[in-house]
Amino acid sequence: MSRKEMRESLFLIGFMGAGKSAVSACLHEAYGMRLLEMDQEIERREGMSIPEIFEKKGEEYFRGLETGLLRELKGDSGTVVSCGGGAAMREENVKLMKEAGKIILLRARPETILKRVAGSDDRPLLRGRGTVEGIRDLMEGRRPRYEAAADLTVDTDEKTVDEICREILERTGAED
Ligand code: S3P
Repeated sequence: MSRKEMRESLFLIGFMGAGKSAVSACLHEAYGMRLLEMDQEIERREGMSIPEIFEKKGEEYFRGLETGLLRELKGDSGTVVSCGGGAAMREENVKLMKEAGKIILLRARPETILKRVAGSDDRPLLRGRGTVEGIRDLMEGRRPRYEAAADLTVDTDEKTVDEICREILERTGAED
């Protein structure tokens, strides 16, 4: 890669199941960007799963860990960061992301999200909201902040992970 993307980090934000992890993995594996998967890094450091952290320490504690991790990225470049779905809800987090690179919002319809998250129980905020309506409600509440934070928005319904990766690289001007 010649290229601009090595200078700038990319922060993938969006709702749970929007494809942040899969797309980040693709940008890492196929396009050589360094990868930071925020949830995984937090789980590794805490020695607990995300549901356990929510249960034992509470959501605010988890949100503090997200902000702490983003603070560490100051001056970073060439990393694709797969953000937890709530990370862009804090103003400070958005500011930290913008200082280090571009924010890319991955969007999907509630119906698509439901299909993608079906059968997994590792998202505390989706417990009791496993319906299209439940997902739409939470998504609508988050939409204004997601959209205000985004430098670039990519709709992911009916696209493959590779197509999404290529679209991101083309639209960020990272690919020749
Ligand atoms: C959350 C999303 C999850 C995880 C936590 C909270 C949220 O990440 O950080 O369960 O508030 O939307 P994914 O978006 O990777 O599922």
